[in-house]
Amino acid sequence: MATETSHAIDTMLLEERRYPPPEEFARQANAKPDIYDESFDAFWEREGRERVTWFEPFSKLYEWEPPYAKFFLGGTLNVCFNCVDRHVEAGKGSKVAYHWEGEPDGDRREITYADLLKDVVRFANALKKIGVKKGTPVAIYMGMVPELAVAMLACTRIGAPHTVVFGGFSADSLSGRMNDMKCEVLITQDEAWRRGSTVPLKKTADEAMAAAPGVKHCVVLRRTGNDVAMQDGRDHWLHELEDGMSDDPSSCPCEPMDSEDLLFLMYTSGTTAKPKGIIHTTAGYLVGTSTTHHYIFDLKRDEDVYWCAADIGWITGHSYIVYGPLCNQATSVMYEGTPDFPDKDRWWDIVERYKVTILYTAPTAIRSHMKWGPEYAQRHDLASLRLLGSVGEPINPEAWVWYREHIGGDRTPIVDTWWQTETGMIMITPLPGITTLKPGSATRPFPGVDAAAYDERGNEVGSGGGGYLVLKRPWPSMLRGIFGDDQRYRDTYWSKYEDVYFAGDGARIDQDGDFWLLGRVDDVMNVSGHRISTIEVESALVDHQDVAEAAVCSRADATTGEAIVAYVTLKGGRDGSVEKLEELRNHVAKKIGAIAKPANIVFTPELPKTRSGKIMRRLLRDVANQRQLGDTTTLADPTVVEEIKSRAESEQSGDEG
Ligand code: WTA
Repeated sequence: MATETSHAIDTMLLEERRYPPPEEFARQANAKPDIYDESFDAFWEREGRERVTWFEPFSKLYEWEPPYAKFFLGGTLNVCFNCVDRHVEAGKGSKVAYHWEGEPDGDRREITYADLLKDVVRFANALKKIGVKKGTPVAIYMGMVPELAVAMLACTRIGAPHTVVFGGFSADSLSGRMNDMKCEVLITQDEAWRRGSTVPLKKTADEAMAAAPGVKHCVVLRRTGNDVAMQDGRDHWLHELEDGMSDDPSSCPCEPMDSEDLLFLMYTSGTTAKPKGIIHTTAGYLVGTSTTHHYIFDLKRDEDVYWCAADIGWITGHSYIVYGPLCNQATSVMYEGTPDFPDKDRWWDIVERYKVTILYTAPTAIRSHMKWGPEYAQRHDLASLRLLGSVGEPINPEAWVWYREHIGGDRTPIVDTWWQTETGMIMITPLPGITTLKPGSATRPFPGVDAAAYDERGNEVGSGGGGYLVLKRPWPSMLRGIFGDDQRYRDTYWSKYEDVYFAGDGARIDQDGDFWLLGRVDDVMNVSGHRISTIEVESALVDHQDVAEAAVCSRADATTGEAIVAYVTLKGGRDGSVEKLEELRNHVAKKIGAIAKPANIVFTPELPKTRSGKIMRRLLRDVANQRQLGDTTTLADPTVVEEIKSRAESEQSGDEG
C-alpha cells in the first residue's frame, strides 16, 4: 500500500497540465459558477420541485437519522411517468428516446418517446397478466436490448421493484441474487449477441431458476431466434404474453409511489463472499440522477445526442442510460455489442452516424482503444462530439490526454466522474463550463456534496493531504441500506468513522481543493471498472474439489486497470498443471462470471500468513506487481513468500488477450 500511495502522489506532482473551460462552452453551459454558492437545502429543494413531476408534492426536503436518510418526504410520484408519459403528454412523443444499434450489421431501431410509452404499457400489462403488482420483486437478466429498458420502466410503472443482473454473470450469481431479493418473476431473452456469437441467457437462467424455486414465472424475449427450452406454465414468450394487450396508457395507469418506496436493488461486491443488495428508493434516486445528468453532461435536450457506452446491468447504466437521461427527455444511443465487432472502429462509426455529441465511458475502454491505436478513430468524423466523460476507476493522465486528443479533437472538456453503486449519482466531478480540468483528477464535489479525506483517526487532512474518502452529509440518491442486512450496512459504511459515510476509496486533495482518487483501500478489486471482491473469487476457487486454499489479489494491468491473480494450494500437496490452471479459471467463470476469471494462477504449497493465520494479501500484491516486498516481520513463515516469488517468476502467464 505504501508504495502504491507514494507512486500515485509522484504521478500527481508531475501532472501540471491544465485545461480551462473553452469560453464558448462556458457561455452556454447549464451550470454557471454561482451553482456552488447555493445552499444544500435551496439547491435540492428547487431541483426536487422542478426536475420531476409529482402526483403529490413533498412536504419536507429530508430527514437524517444516521445512518439512514429519507428525502422528499410526503411526496408521491412515479418514475415511469417522469421518464416517459409526461414527455408524450407535453407533445414530445415524436422525439427519439433511443437510437438503438444492434450488434449484427444493419440491425437498428429508432425508438421515440411515443414508441417507448406504447412498449412500456404493453409490457406492463403483460407483467400484470402473470400476477406482477405493486411490490412484486422482479429479476431482469438481459443483454443491451431496448426491451431491457422497457422491462425496467414497466416494473416502475406498476411499482414492482427490480434487480437487473448483468448478462455476463453466471447461474449461481443470478440465483443468489434472486433468492436474496425473493424474486417471483424473471425477465430474460433466448440469447444475446456478443462479438458475433451468441450468449445463452435463457439456458443460464434455467440453471439459476432450478436453484431459485421462488421464481414462478419467466418472461422470455425472442432476440436471436435460436431454439431454447421453455417450461410449460413457468416460461412465457414475451410476444405471446403481449398478444392482444393494450398499449393505451389508460389501460395501465402509473402507480403513485411514495418518495421512499423501493425502486430497485443493485448487487455489488463487498469484502465478504455474498454480494450486497444496495437499496435505492424512488424520489431521491430520480432527482439525484436527473439533476447530475443535466448539469454534468450539460444536456441540451433538443440538440444533444448522448451516449453512455456502459451496460445497463451496472449502476452506470441504470443512472445514466435509463433513469437520468429519460427523466431529462434526452435522445440517447444504446449499443448492444462490443467495441471491436466487426472491427475496432465500431464505436466511432456509431458516433459519426448518429452525430453523438456527448460520450460517457470507462478508462478500461479508453485504454483498449489506445492499445488498438488512433487510426480507428481517424477513419471517422467525430466533429459532433462536444463533451466526454469517464467513470469506473481512476483514469491515468496518459489515457485522459489520449481520449481528449484522439476522440475529443483536442477541444472537448472531459468530466472524470467519481461515484459508486451506493451513491446512485455522480458525487465528485468537474462541471464542464466552470472547472479547470487536470488530467487524472475528478476535481470537485458536486454542489451540495460534502466530501473530505480523513486520516486513520478521523481527522480531516485538508488540502495537500491524502487519506480515506468520506461523505459528510447525506444526498438524495444515497443508498438506503443493504437489503435484509442492517448490521452489514452499519459495519461497511458507518463504523470506521462516526456519522460520516466511508467510501472505501483513498483520496488526496491538492492545494486547489481538487480531489485525486487513489483506488480502493479494501479487498475489492477493480477489473475493467467492475468491483470484484477478493473473497468472492477465493470462495469460487475453494469451491473446486481439488483446491485446499486460495488467496486472490490484483496486479496492475495496462488495459483492465487491475487483473486478478490467484495463489492456489491444491489438496494433498499436489502440483498444478496448465490443464488444472484452465480448469480453475473456468470454474471461477462458472461460479461468478467470466469477468472474475483470474488472469493468472500461481500454484503454491503454502500461502503467506500471519501468526494468527490471516492471509497476507498485501505481500501477494507485492509479488504480483513485481515490487519489493513490504514489511514481512509479521509472517509466520518467511520462506513461504520467497517460494511463491520464485514460482511466480517462472510461471507462464495465463493471460487472455
Ligand atoms: C471506482 C461505478 C476513480 C471507485 C459508478 C469506486 C472511480 C468504485 C471513479 C465504484 C473515478 C468509480 N475515479 N475511481 N472517476 N469512478 N471509481 O460501484 O473505487 O461499480 O469506489 O460504481 O469505482 O464502483 P461501482
